[in-house]
Formats: sequence, C-alpha cells, structure tokens
Amino acid sequence: MQLLQTTAELRRWLASRGPGPLHFVPTMGALHSGHASLIHRAGRRRDAGQPLVLVSVFVNPLQFGPNEDFDRYPRSLESDLQRAADAGAAALFAPSAAELYPQGVEELTRIEPPQGLQQGLCGAQRPGHFAGVATVVVRLLALIRPDRLLLGEKDWQQLVILRRVVADLGLPVQVEGCPTQREADGLALSSRNRYLDADQRQRAAALPRILAAAAREVTATQAPSTLPVLLSQVRGQLEREQLVVDYVEATDAHSLQPRDQPAGLTLLAAAARCGPTRLIDHVFLMSRAPIVAIDGPAGAGKSTVTRAFAERLGLIYLDTGAMYRAVTWLVQQSSVDPADGTAVAPLLAGLDLQLSTAAAGSQRVLVNGHDVTEAIRSPEVTAQVSVVAAHGCVREALTRQQQAMGERGGLVAEGRDIGTAVFPDAELKVFLTATTAERARRRALDLEQRGFPVPPLQELEAQITERDHLDSTRDVAPLTQAADAVELITDGLSIGAVIGQLVLLFRERVPHDAWPEPGA
Ligand code: PAF
Repeated sequence: MQLLQTTAELRRWLASRGPGPLHFVPTMGALHSGHASLIHRAGRRRDAGQPLVLVSVFVNPLQFGPNEDFDRYPRSLESDLQRAADAGAAALFAPSAAELYPQGVEELTRIEPPQGLQQGLCGAQRPGHFAGVATVVVRLLALIRPDRLLLGEKDWQQLVILRRVVADLGLPVQVEGCPTQREADGLALSSRNRYLDADQRQRAAALPRILAAAAREVTATQAPSTLPVLLSQVRGQLEREQLVVDYVEATDAHSLQPRDQPAGLTLLAAAARCGPTRLIDHVFLMSRAPIVAIDGPAGAGKSTVTRAFAERLGLIYLDTGAMYRAVTWLVQQSSVDPADGTAVAPLLAGLDLQLSTAAAGSQRVLVNGHDVTEAIRSPEVTAQVSVVAAHGCVREALTRQQQAMGERGGLVAEGRDIGTAVFPDAELKVFLTATTAERARRRALDLEQRGFPVPPLQELEAQITERDHLDSTRDVAPLTQAADAVELITDGLSIGAVIGQLVLLFRERVPHDAWPEPGA
C-alpha cells in the first residue's frame, strides 16, 4: 500500500493507478474496526467493477471548535497504515494542513451547508463544525476525484449534509452510507472511545442501550403522542447513568427538522458526555418496514432486476403483474368473456389469491388453492392480460389486496400504478426504463436465446414504440412516471450495475441502521 503525503504524490499515484473505479474513504485517522469495515466495503467487487480504495487521514482543524479536542485528537499514522492495508486499501493519503490548505485557513473559501441541516443536533453545540467538514471533504474530492465516497451512518447528520453538498454542487461522485459498527455491548465504534477509562467505558454503553429501548417502546405502542414524553424519559435515563446530556432530539431522518410525532422515518439522536468524551448515537423509528415501488415500460428488465434487488435487501418481491395474470387465468378457466367487465366482477368476490416466495426468490402463485405459477405464463394468458387488467373492478380488487399486503411494508412491488395508486407513500419509487433501441436489442437477444426467429431491429423498435403508446394512452392505469419517482435509464448497464444503483437509491432513503441487509 502506498503512503502519499503531498498533493504531488497523490497526483502521480492517481495518474498511474490504472483503470477501474476509485472508492474513497475519508477519515481523521486513529483507525478502528469501524473504519476497517468501511474500507473493506469500499473494495468489494459486487457491482462496481474492481474498485481501488484510497483512504485519507487528516485531522481537519476547520471542524474543531476552540474548546474542542483538536490538539489531543489521537494521531497514529503507523498503525493506521497497517489497518488500512489489512482492510484492502491501495493507498493512504495523509497530507499536512499546509499541503491541503497551502494558502492557510484564514481566507479559505468555505462550503456552507444549508442552515436547516446544520442548526439542530450536533450543529447546535458545534457552530461551524459542518461547514468545516463540508469544506475539507469537497477539497479532498476535488483532489482525488473518486467515483464513490463512503461514509459511516454513525455520523448521520454529517452523512445527510455531505449528500446534500454533493447534490447541490453537482459533484460527480456517488455517496454510499455504511452501517454503524458496534462493540458487543452496543457502543458504536469511534476514535474518541479510546479516551474512556474502564468505568466510563462501562457507563458509555448506557447510551445505545437506552436509545434502543426507546425505539422498541415506540414500535410496540405506536402511540402518536409519545415523542416529547419519550425524549424527556431518555434524557432522565441518561442522566441517571451519570452521562451529561448535550441533546436528545427527534427529527425527520432526512430534513433533520424536529418532530413531535413519529411519522415515516424518524431519527432519535442523542449526544452525551461521559467524563471528557463526547458520545453520539441514534436509532431510527419507523411506522412500518420500507416499501419500494418499481414501474416502467415493458421490456426494460424490471422483473429480473426487482427480484434480485428484493433478495439482496431482504424485502418481499411483490410481482403485481403475476396477480393480473392470475385473474386472467381464472377468467379463462371460468369461460367468461375477458372483455366483459360485468361478467368478470363476480369472480373477484370470493377470490383467494396467494403469493409466496419460493426458493431463489421466485414467486409461487395460488388461485383459489390451485398452483398457477406456470399456467399464468402461457401465451393465452399473455394475450389477454391487458384486457382483463383494464377493468376498473379488477384494478380496485387487486389494489386493495396489494395495499393489505403492504400494510406492514418490507416489500418491493413491481407493476403499473404501483407508485401512484397502490403505494403513494413508498420510501423509494423508481421508473426503470431504457431507450427503445436498447429494449429492441434486448428483445432480439432474448428471442434468439429462446430459439425463436428474430425480426429486424427496426421492426422490434416499431413494436415497442406502439406498445408504449398504447400503454401510456390507455384510460385505466396508463403508463406514467410518478412525480416523485427517480428515473433510472439502464442503457449500457449490466443487471448487477442496475441493482447497485437501486441499492444506492434505497440507502439514501433507508439507512442500514433502520433496515439491515440479510446476514449483516
Ligand atoms: O467523519 C470524519 O472522520 C470526518 O468528519 C471527515 C468526514 C473525515 C472529515 O474530516
């Protein structure tokens, strides 16, 4: 692993590092296993080619207040080098202040994040702190130009602010939040934990314990008016453990604005002093498990991607298309005219439609006790599903059933209308699409692989354009992008890369601390 101490050395290393993505983990050193997990995560191959990881170690004077611990902040470059190398870093950039801020800091251009994000939580106690963090991180990003910036969720306010700074400045870097690492007794790993003596160390564990108990209480009672009471309860409990409370606050997890009722994703955060050490921690309160809604035109690869994404995040895959197919199958079995809504309606009254996830994430579909998993994929069903799905009575019945399935959340639903009519309050809505040319190419490949004749690409493109037109102009549930859906254009992306993008989008909205990945 390379140690780089000047910007010139950094430039040379960047110029010679070869192709592939560069992932960047900024730190202030005194690396512990929380940092090691960030570095390790940064180097994982999964969906980002074979990334090289660069770690920075810089105790940034701009983010310390006059009475804070800048002078005594632990500095341990030798062991940091070892830790970073063991975790898989390719280089460690450890510049001096003069190297990073050659003009000094008095007249330095600073980044001022939005007041609304800075003024509460740690920002209230540490004026100028987040401007200092944003300034150094933007400076480092400008020098390093990484593809991805990895930050711990432990410092949630910092993560929210840096995501916003990157978005507002349009910086070409993806921000990935990583799970908080904890000791066996729950204490979040932090470089400052090494200030704690044995007695303080024991008392420090009260912070995560009390926060976790508070989260359990809210989840169990779901009482809307409990937050102000809860905050003073938490404060009292921390004080009884001889922790000196800086703040206990409940805010919206993303806007960081104070909340007095839990709704959506709520952050319950606290900072307290244990001896000379300032500890921070948080938990998230959720009224239900997360929901992701995925829509988009036919042939954009939604099903494959959604199934794999659901599996990766431990969410249930709700294939609403399969439900419309199941009703179509029932209509055909009952010898009812699929185009006749009045004749179809009575079939829905006693409908027992069950979806369950079988091995490898595939879905089993039962209609009134019959396993129709295979039967609903027949060409006959395919030919009539859009006629059946266009009946208002069918959409109402299935929307109701989907909403009932989503009451507790924890699912990814794919299908028409899903982000607008079925789950308007989904945490993440994605409109997954690809250009007509790309979808035609994929269709041709699929036909070829399945041994069918392949029409010329132009003809396939014309068919796709026609289908899009029909889908988006029909009266019932037309293909439209929900106003708050993120458009993801999948041209040129592998399936793994699309899933990687979805995971990043999901993690911007639902942190690991609120919904961990399976096996984490
Ligand atoms: O979280 C930290 O260690 C620091 O705030 C950071 C992001 C490295 C900036 O100095």
